[in-house]
Amino acid sequence: KYDVKDCKLLQKRELAKDIFDFVVEAPDFAAAAQAGQFAHIYVPGKTLRRPISICGVDRAAGTLRFVFQIRGEGTRILAGLEEGATLDILAPLGHGFVLGDCSRKAVFVGGGIGVPPLLEASKAFGKNATAVLGFRNRDAVILEEDFRANGCEVRIATDDGSMGHHGLVTDCLKDLDFDVLFACGPTPMLKAVSAVAKERGVECQISLEERMACGIGACLGCACKLLADGREYLGHVCKDGPVFPYQNVVL
Ligand code: FES
Repeated sequence: KYDVKDCKLLQKRELAKDIFDFVVEAPDFAAAAQAGQFAHIYVPGKTLRRPISICGVDRAAGTLRFVFQIRGEGTRILAGLEEGATLDILAPLGHGFVLGDCSRKAVFVGGGIGVPPLLEASKAFGKNATAVLGFRNRDAVILEEDFRANGCEVRIATDDGSMGHHGLVTDCLKDLDFDVLFACGPTPMLKAVSAVAKERGVECQISLEERMACGIGACLGCACKLLADGREYLGHVCKDGPVFPYQNVVL
């Protein structure tokens, strides 16, 4: 039940170098969107829309929040739009997180620009959740306060040790107790998180959203190996995901 709508850009901020935060007026999408889904935003002058993950849904205010990184010409044009501009948005798309019982202890594990797709889901778990967020360095840290505002405990890891734990996000999981993991970030991180889930025997949902280019099944750039009933088959992150149970994906 996706739709296309013209949405007004209400607020724009730059959270870190080349990472932008848009709040758009979109009451219908806000009513329908699930955590972990994405939107397709038309870029003026470009043929293909850009897939951008939904970072926040405010049903009362009727707004959606998108936090994205400039990765090429299309996202650069988007980032250059000013408040008051109209965005042509196709949403909500893809399969998001299946939250289940939110009284369980959840850990949200995000790496870099894989952090924004986790924020909305963390809201449902509130104080039952810990967010373990990894970044290159302190200047790249985003959304730390937003996870806290959702009630979550936050742990930061950086590659260079300039903030929080010096090392991998998975190091920060060692002394934590949890029933379910939600993860989004680079493939090596998702592999490591999946291994932890397997070892602990807990549920784990991973979002492969970083690997989408066109988002509509046109570029084939998001092909992924999926597993069902012990058989491997080729799927598309943009259509079959972006969120999968870790057991169903060959990373
Ligand atoms: Fe292009 Fe899926 S992102 S086919």
